[in-house]
Amino acid sequence: MKTRKSWAEPFKIKMVELIKMTTPKQRLKAIREAGYNTFLLKSEDVYIDLLTDSGTSAMSDQQWAGMMLGDEAYAGSRNFYHLEKAVQETYGYKYLVPTHQGRGAEHIISKVLIKKGDVIPGNMYFTTTRLHQELAGGTFVDVIVDEAHDPQSDFPFKGNIDLQKLEDVIKKYGPKRIPYVSMATTVNMAGGQPISMENLKTVRQLTQKHNIRIIHDMTRVAENAYFIKEREKGYRNRSIASLVKEICSYTDGATMSAKKDALVNIGGFLALNDWNTFEEARNMVVIYEGLHTYGGLAGRDMEAMSIGIRESVDYDHMHARIGQVLYLGDKLVEAGVPVVHPIGSHGVFLDARTILDHIPQDNYPAQTLAAELYINSGVRSMERGIVSAGRNPKTGKNYYPKLELVRLTIPRRVYTQAHMDVVAESVIEVFENRKKIKGLRMIYEPRYLRFFQARFAPLK
Ligand code: F0G
Repeated sequence: MKTRKSWAEPFKIKMVELIKMTTPKQRLKAIREAGYNTFLLKSEDVYIDLLTDSGTSAMSDQQWAGMMLGDEAYAGSRNFYHLEKAVQETYGYKYLVPTHQGRGAEHIISKVLIKKGDVIPGNMYFTTTRLHQELAGGTFVDVIVDEAHDPQSDFPFKGNIDLQKLEDVIKKYGPKRIPYVSMATTVNMAGGQPISMENLKTVRQLTQKHNIRIIHDMTRVAENAYFIKEREKGYRNRSIASLVKEICSYTDGATMSAKKDALVNIGGFLALNDWNTFEEARNMVVIYEGLHTYGGLAGRDMEAMSIGIRESVDYDHMHARIGQVLYLGDKLVEAGVPVVHPIGSHGVFLDARTILDHIPQDNYPAQTLAAELYINSGVRSMERGIVSAGRNPKTGKNYYPKLELVRLTIPRRVYTQAHMDVVAESVIEVFENRKKIKGLRMIYEPRYLRFFQARFAPLK
């Protein structure tokens, strides 16, 4: 194991939120009532909540102070202009359309740019992103490097786009049927894996040659920038802020779930450089989200977001944020627990396919493991495998993703190192008793994004 020099978080704690401890009996009852789906647990029955890093960050005192400066005018709120300035200065995009969260922006950009029959290549799918592309009449094609599908590969940039795969898609369908390349910084479903600056630059050259846009899912762009600084040759002395801006400069627009990197509990936006696309998006936002100067957000939310954006590109913040994830990951690796390598930016992903290799994918190994972990300690995690992958809308058949994972997602600035120790101990205990674990069957399946609301029962 690498030994890293100790550091402490660049903040101190001013207020605490009390959490409830539960007994194994209470947890068994709770998970049964939740249909063995951690999304359906009540948060008050959870001890350490690692379901997601989305909207779960602790805001700073500056952000809370900003909440008091909310200008709740229907039109032209001063906080919109602060947010616009933060987006322009930090990310370099010209035009801003605020939305209530990331999927609001995905909805709008998909409607504006995708025609029926179009094809959207991307570095692995994200659930809501792909669904909006499909609902707009498009088909998503995965062009991420093969290493991303192999949990054991230590390749440092598993978020990279495979240029040959991208060229093949362009050749097969022709550039006219490709409205944009969907490029995410730190790829969530691959385990929080970054794309390299070099790869992005090359993708930019290739797409420019064919006049194809790049739309950037910038939900965790600062985390990606941190990995570039740490791992990519020639970037060691660069600031996170300058790397973030450079990444954005190779793209034509972006969708943002500000609930992650940008340290807010709610919010998002669509950012664009091209006036015509912006104009159409601004037409749409008033239909689906709200007026173009609030997009479904309160003025105070936009103020907290504009402050959070600036805090997110601070090196010390990012060093502590990702450092905490690596701390948990290293503990599990040391104990021999199979996890996705390298450890990603926003969480540690357990390799449920390997851990529960006696459970077939049709009996949901990752869903099962997440439920077992909750029963063991009250730690809540999330399935990222066959349930999340859903069905092919054309054939109705299940997708069978190579990655069958349980995500331990770390909220920003919320938990301590001691919490991470408790989580590690619980995962290790479940791992040691893995042979006794049986799978699940699905007893209720919703039509869209089934992982959120599906229900399961244990196999006999
Ligand atoms: N893109 C990525 C990469 C995401 O991780 C998410 C959300 C979205 C888009 C959608 O944004 O939730 O604000 O509408 N991911 C959350 C998660 C839900 O838990 O990974 P949203």
